[in-house]
Amino acid sequence: MPGIVVVGAQWGDEGKGKVVDILTEHAEVVVRYAGGPNAGHTLVVGNEKVIVRLVPSGILRKGTACVLAQGMVIDPVRLCDEIDELKKRGYEHAADLHISDRAHAILAYHRLVDGLREQTAGALGTTKRGIGPCYEDKAARRGVPMGALRDPKTLRDLAARGLEAWKPVIAALGGTAPTLESVLAEIEPLAARIAPRLCDTSALVDAALRENKTVLFEGAQGTLLDVDHGTYPFVTSSSAIAGGACTGAGVGPTRIARVVGLVKAYCTRVGAGPFPTELSDEIGERLRKIGDEFGSVTGRPRRTGWLDLPALRYAARINGLDRIAITKLDVLTGAPKLRVCVAYETPHGESSELPVSDLERAKPIYRDVEPWSDDLSGARALGDLPRAARDYVAMIEEAAGCEAMIVSVGSRRDETITK
Ligand code: GDP
Ligand code: IMO
Ligand code: MG
Repeated sequence: MPGIVVVGAQWGDEGKGKVVDILTEHAEVVVRYAGGPNAGHTLVVGNEKVIVRLVPSGILRKGTACVLAQGMVIDPVRLCDEIDELKKRGYEHAADLHISDRAHAILAYHRLVDGLREQTAGALGTTKRGIGPCYEDKAARRGVPMGALRDPKTLRDLAARGLEAWKPVIAALGGTAPTLESVLAEIEPLAARIAPRLCDTSALVDAALRENKTVLFEGAQGTLLDVDHGTYPFVTSSSAIAGGACTGAGVGPTRIARVVGLVKAYCTRVGAGPFPTELSDEIGERLRKIGDEFGSVTGRPRRTGWLDLPALRYAARINGLDRIAITKLDVLTGAPKLRVCVAYETPHGESSELPVSDLERAKPIYRDVEPWSDDLSGARALGDLPRAARDYVAMIEEAAGCEAMIVSVGSRRDETITK
């Protein structure tokens, strides 16, 4: 039963890319099950940095089967650009992907609507990659599954239907709808590249699991951005939680042996929405600078804040975490003070639970913890960490209710403590 889900326990950007890359050493298949090019997963090997958006983070290791499953939304233009870029950098096998014929295609009108909405008062701070409108089309049953790239007439008919539906919205937002010909002109030339890669990825994943191969299900975004369980409406439009691996990849829950939650040692968030432990002072600025907290997709500065233990307990529950990986512990080194949120004051009294539907009115209750000043980047065993950092790890493990299998102390592959 070697299905392992790797899921973000916060608001995304926890370091899923790095951890999936490390775990891929022992995996035969890596599957992206949700989201699309809103994700930006960073992999650092030696001095080389690669950011993948649609392609699974297993891609750096040749011989690993990389799957884009049906829970994803895929922009064919960005996918081909990403493959070309990876090939240019020496990853010749980057085109050897298995792409679900039922993942949905992001087309020009999805990106346009996303961008236009971001200019309005209700902007969510999306990545403007067309994610929301594409999932809207899927739920409205007027989307364009990737399988349509196999047949020009089907592609034309489905794109025409989608475009017609969005025209009044685009006009109301003050935009100009693209012509059907321009929508098609962008993707038709890519069909010959993509079509041979399309398949029923769920069958492929099932076969691998039956052969007892290790399959990693790579989450995108994070628990608090999940459309059902996140800080709605300031969320993405997909099932980012561990359960999304089952629906998104088409595998039964009985196939999942392990769920690893990614926990950054502090919190960040990109885009709008409640973030109770946010730091708007020089400590927050320090975290942003030392942690290099700038969006890997949009370059936007990430909002930074203290670690939120009620949010972690919530993520542990929603995802059924049975292991965690703690990242960016090194970023806290030298912090003049360290605090964590341990509970919330809510209109209904104090609570150690995350008041997820009323976060705007909740006030964090903090506990000071002991800071440390030693450089952690050379640590390769928990025993190499200073006591205060070990205590910090133990505190996170206690809140998550499970052990850390990885503690990351730098962005590089080797800057890692594995248990
Ligand atoms: P993802 O979206 O969850 O894959 O995370 P991102 O790649 O968007 O953001 C995580 C950032 O932190 C990337 O720039 C990583 O290279 C970097 N990173 C990951 N782990 C560590 C760590 O332990 N220490 C430091 N300093 N950087 C890390
Ligand atoms: P990874 O996989 C951080 C955020 C956006 C915005 C909200 C909705 O790298 O962790 P969308 O474009 O999805 O409609 O935007 O979700 N968001 C992310 N934040 N990491 C991500 O992915 C994100 N993907 C989307 O900033 O607030
Ligand atoms: Mg990211």
